[in-house]
Parts: sequence; C-alpha cells; structure tokens
Amino acid sequence: MTETREPSADPTALDEAAAQRRWAELVALVEEDQRAYYELDAPKVSDAEYDARMRELEALEAAHPALVTPESPTQRVGGRAAAGFATVEHLERMLSLDNAFSTDDLRAWAARVNRDLGLGPDDRAGYLCEVKIDGLAVALLYEKGRLVRAATRGDGRTGEDVTANVRTIGSVPQHLGGDPASHPDVIEIRGEVFMGVDDFDALNEKLVAAGHAPYANPRNTAAGSLRQKDPQVTASRNLRVYAHGVGALQWTAGKHAELERQSDAYALFEQWGVPVSPHNRVVAGLDGVLEMIEHFREHRHDIEHELDGIVVKVDALADQRRLGATSRAPRWAVAYKYPPEEVNTRLLAIQVAVGRTGRATPYAVMEPVTVAGSTVRQATLHNQDVVRAKGVRIGDMVVLRKAGDVIPEVLGPVAALADDGYPREDFVMPSECPECGTPLRAMKEGDVDLRCPNAESCPAQVRGRVEHIGSRGGLDVEALGEVTAAALTQPDVPETPPLRTEAGLFSLTLEQLLPIEVVVRDAETGLPKVDDDGVARRRAPFRKRASHTRAARLAAEEAGEALPEHEPSSQALKLLEELERAKTKDLWRILVSLNIRHVGPVAARALADWFGSLDAIRGASRDELAAVEGVGPVIADQIVEWFTVDWHLEIVEAWAAAGVRFATPGHPGPEAMAAKADEGPTGPLAGLTVVVTGSLEGFSRDGATEAIVAAGGKASGSVSRKTDYVVVGEGAGSKEAKARDLGLPILDEAGFVRLLEGGPAALEA
Ligand code: IVH
Repeated sequence: MTETREPSADPTALDEAAAQRRWAELVALVEEDQRAYYELDAPKVSDAEYDARMRELEALEAAHPALVTPESPTQRVGGRAAAGFATVEHLERMLSLDNAFSTDDLRAWAARVNRDLGLGPDDRAGYLCEVKIDGLAVALLYEKGRLVRAATRGDGRTGEDVTANVRTIGSVPQHLGGDPASHPDVIEIRGEVFMGVDDFDALNEKLVAAGHAPYANPRNTAAGSLRQKDPQVTASRNLRVYAHGVGALQWTAGKHAELERQSDAYALFEQWGVPVSPHNRVVAGLDGVLEMIEHFREHRHDIEHELDGIVVKVDALADQRRLGATSRAPRWAVAYKYPPEEVNTRLLAIQVAVGRTGRATPYAVMEPVTVAGSTVRQATLHNQDVVRAKGVRIGDMVVLRKAGDVIPEVLGPVAALADDGYPREDFVMPSECPECGTPLRAMKEGDVDLRCPNAESCPAQVRGRVEHIGSRGGLDVEALGEVTAAALTQPDVPETPPLRTEAGLFSLTLEQLLPIEVVVRDAETGLPKVDDDGVARRRAPFRKRASHTRAARLAAEEAGEALPEHEPSSQALKLLEELERAKTKDLWRILVSLNIRHVGPVAARALADWFGSLDAIRGASRDELAAVEGVGPVIADQIVEWFTVDWHLEIVEAWAAAGVRFATPGHPGPEAMAAKADEGPTGPLAGLTVVVTGSLEGFSRDGATEAIVAAGGKASGSVSRKTDYVVVGEGAGSKEAKARDLGLPILDEAGFVRLLEGGPAALEA
C-alpha cells in the first residue's frame, strides 16, 4: 500500500490542484482498503481509519464538486458507507437473443443467415455453439487490463453498477493476465453470472437446516446474490462467471490483436484468465449444431449449471458485422430453447384463494416435485372452467410443467394412471367466499371469473390491498409485507383486527399493535405448528420476545410478579416509523395505494404529473382523465367509478386526517399544465435532441439530463440522424464515432454549457 500523509489539511483550504492530488490519493487508499476487505478478507486498516478516509473524501468532494466522478468510491456501492446501486450506461447496448423453439425455426434462421451472407444453401458457415447458461448477464469493463466497472444488463442501455459485488467473484480477474501488450485500451467483456447447481443445493441444505425457507432456483439466487447491498454476502455465495461476448473494444492505434472469429476472442480471454465455458464447440454447418443440441437434450442435468438451450452464433466477426442486429437482438445469433420439462405428481387438493380484487382462483396443491430446477407444490388453475377443461380430479396423478420455465402449470391427468386405486374426487367450485362467506358471483355478464363482492371488508381483499400499499410499486414500506398485512387484518388475537379496511392504516397505534398474536404455520403444509404440550404455537410480531416467552412467563409466575409489560418489537417501531414517512411520499405512490383498478405506477405517475393533487383528479371529468397520456378511457372510467363509493371516500378522509399528503407541493395544477402543453416546449433547447456520451467534469449523467430537460430540450441515450447535438466527454466511445459518421455537430463540455445557456445561437458567437 502506498504511504501517504494522514490526516490531511482542511479540504476547503486546498487549491484545485492540491485537492485533485489528495482526492486521487484517497481514492487509491479507499479502493485498496475495499479490495483488502472484500476480496482478500484481510482488512489492512481498522474500520475507524477506513471511515475517516471515506469522510475526508466526502468532505473534499463537497468542497470541490468537480472532483466527483462516477468512479469515486463515494458514488459506488460496496464502499462500506454507500448503499443502493448507481445506474451506469453501457458503452454499447447489451442486446438480447432471438429464440428458436424447434429445429425448423433453427433451419429457417440458418437459411436467412446464408442468404444474407450471399452463401448458397449448401455452404457451411462456421458456427460457435454454446450452452445457454441460466444466469444473468453482466458487462465487465477493463481499461488497460484493469477491471474498472461491472454492470448488470438492466434495460440494455443502462444497468446497475455492481462492481463491488462482482469484485468478490473469485474467477473474475481484477487485472487481465497474459501478455500486457495484448490488453486493449478498453474492452467490455460480456458474460453470464451464475450459481452452480452443487453450490445451490449446498446453500439450500444449509438454509433448511437452519429453519429457513429454501431458494427457488439457482438463477434467482444468483441474481439476488449479485444485487446484495453488502458485498460480503455476495462473496459468500460462490458465484461464477463465463464470458460469452465482447461489447465495446478500443485499441491504441496500430496495436491490436488479430481477431477473426468470436472463438479467437475466447482464446484470448483464456490467456487473460477470464473464464469461458468448457462446453463451447466450433462446428461446421447446421449438422454440427443439431448434434450439440441432441447431446445436451440428453445431458441437460449433467453439467455444472442449469441450462435452458443452446446459443448458436456465426463465428466469423466480419460476417457478424455484415449481418448486424435488430433493435433487440443480433441477426448473427439465435438461442435454441429446449421445450419445458414435464413431470408427474399427485394432485392432493384444489383450494380457492381470494385476491386483492376479490377474484376467487382455484389452485392445485400437489405433492412437492422438482421441475426445471425448483420445487413446486402449487399451481394456479385460473377458474372453474379451466379445471373442467383440463379434466383433472382431486387425487389424480397430473402432468406438471413450467410454462416459460417459470410459472408452473398443470397440463392434465396422466391417463395411464387413472386406475391406480388412489381415491378420486371431483372439484366443486365453492359458491361462497372461503374467507368471508359472501356468495361469489360473476361481476359482469359473460365473466367466467367469480368474485367476492364484499370488497370493503372481506379479510382476503383487505389483506391484499394492505400488502399492495406496502409493495415496492406502492408506498414501498418494507415493514409492511405479506405477513404483516395478514397480522393487521386477520390476527388470531384479538378477534377484532386493527384494520377492518385500510382506512385506519395511517392512524395505527402501538396500543393496537401490541396485543396482536398469530398462529405459526408450517410453510409447506399450511398447518398450525404445535408445541410439545399440544398447544398451537403463537407469535406476537409486534412485541419484544422476552415478555411473552414461556421462560419469562414462568419466571414471573414463580416470583409472584405480574407479567413484564409488553414492549414493542423493532418490527412494530419500524412499521409505525415507515408509515409516518410514507405519508409525504410522491403523489403517484399514494395514488397506487388507493387500489383503484388498473391504476398502477405508470398510470399513477401520469395522473400525478398532470393533475398534481387528488382533488384535481377527483374534479376532472372522464374525458379530461382519459386525455392524459398514459391514462385512457378504461382507466378513466375506473377512476370516476372509484370516487362514487362511500367507503373509498372514507379512506381518503381518514388518511388525510392522519396527515397523508394528497398533492405535489408546488405543482401548478392541470390548467397550467394544459397551457404549457399548448405552447410547446420553451427554453434555449426547445425542440432539440441532445446526446451526452462519456463523463463530464461538471455534470453527473443525471445532472446533464436534467439540465437538458430544464432548458426545454430532449435528452436521448442513442445517436441517430434525429440527434441535434452530441456532447462528448472523457472516455466517449462508439457514440462519438457514430456521430462523426453521421456528420452531427459535436460539442465538448464548454460548448455544452454555452448551448444550455444560450441555445444554438450561442455556439455561433
Ligand atoms: S450471447 C448479443 N451467449 O441469454 C448476444 N448469451 O436470452 C448476447 N445467455 O442476455 C448474448 N448464455 O444473458 C449469449 N452462451 C451465451 C449465453 C447467453 C446465456 C443469456 C444472456 C442473454 C440472454 C438472452
């Protein structure tokens, strides 16, 4: 580690050059600390020293904002101080793959490739065949051989910065190996992060042994492990990576490796120590591809990770360039997908669940079985007509598969096992709501779905709505998940729940929470767990443990003392505190929380942006609502209808009385918005589209976007003929090249500032 003077001078007293030097020193130190801490598991400094360095860095950046770059440890996850993931822009778009679901699809793809390359039908293009790893894509950015950034795919243009977490993956080199002369200036290596099946099984065994629920499948576990706020958790998960492509690539002029084929790039990766799948094969022509497909159809479960298909790529890079890509996927590659796996299992029961909207949905309860990598015990049967159409009876052996390998689906009974002696029973759709006893009915003529019409107080519906309020797309109240929503709406004690509807949610008190007790149920069977003495075990989620454990009770009794006073659990305090904070969250979140049919985050944002308050929404006519972009007539009808129901209005009143804010402060109201829309955009950049690429000194990425929009312009992420200006910062790549190709005006940061202030005219001056 480099020696340096510590502690430093007052950051505000340093001149720019000295500040820059000290900043670079601190960044190097902090990065070194982080590496030692997270990767080597051998911290070099104490936590206090580390924190002091981070604080100095923050103070320095506060005093000299120009120093803040996206690479600064203050901006990244995994600094022990930072939280959340920054968004990063991929140097080149991360595309997806088109699928082929049959060998005919595959032949058709190959024929198109041959045609577009001007090859005869018998010409045998060289294909690179790879197994399709069931994991998640990442882009690893190496500059001069050093790993500087790792990002998830995200929407293909921007992803999440997961550098700190990826650095904990042992097989990802921090520095490329091999001959340094072979390292490009910049290379974005794309690959798949995955969890091996053995590691997945071992992790689940440990979890189950510790009394936790197991994870569903390796893919989700890998994704969850990569997106941990604490890189140490990621480090403990044994994630792995196989590289499967190259994104941006820049060499110093005159010096570059001879790459003719994608398989040559893989050979180079191997020299650099970047892992590549051992299952890749280069084949000549389609026959070789089909052979590989048949091989892995048989041996799907014989390799180290889960796979869901075979990826076929045209190997020659010149041909890849000629074939190009659509907006979604390259034309030079295709993913052959194996059909979903099917298994047999016993249908033990058909139960009926009532959801947030009152719909009564029958679902199959089955003997647990593993299909496509995860254990399945339940599957929806949608409605009584579907049950009939599938011809299943309770007690049947049924065929189960995962549609799209995600959602389990019962296909039908196994005909050959119809007479296996197991008792059978026909399913009868209940005529009453299983939770509140209200007769079920179709809400509209011709509706197949039956619903519970007791929307106001059916516990299942209230529970669903309350859970929805706490969800990420609603008020994002972490302490208000499924279990808490159930405890608030259907506790076993007291008989009358604190929430009969959601109206009381924001006026919940500790006095209401403390008495709540719920029966502990087995996650698998749903049956109550029973203590040794035959009593159903109960949990009081909102009380501190000690005051109600048997030991504490016995001790109190023995000592002839009153039971210790109930003290609130951290869950109770957190819930109340989070609800308090939720009262002033963005208006769109409050709108989502009202559970108006079809008003999800997208429509809610549109409504909030336009109207600025619930009063304005309520005062608007159906047509005014429908005219808002992103709303439309169907949602408009639902909103108008929603306000005609008394108990809905009671919710609004109760929430308002509890301090919920139903307006966006400073919003000018819909009239002002309409007037502004008529005028069209104003400002120096009105009508102009600007692309910013590379990093600027005085603007973060979001800051640049905001500045463009504030000046009346449109900020875009991609360069096209419609782009008016391209602003080029440090480290710009392919977008700059494209802008030059198209002959678009290119600005440096100073030009950008002039454009923002004075519009195009300021550039000519
Ligand atoms: S190449 C431009 N190769 O599948 C082509 N992708 O369904 C980019 N995947 O987003 C992908 N194994 O995350 C490629 N051997 C492999 C792959 C693979 C898994 C994933 C990748 C991609 C997704 C598309």
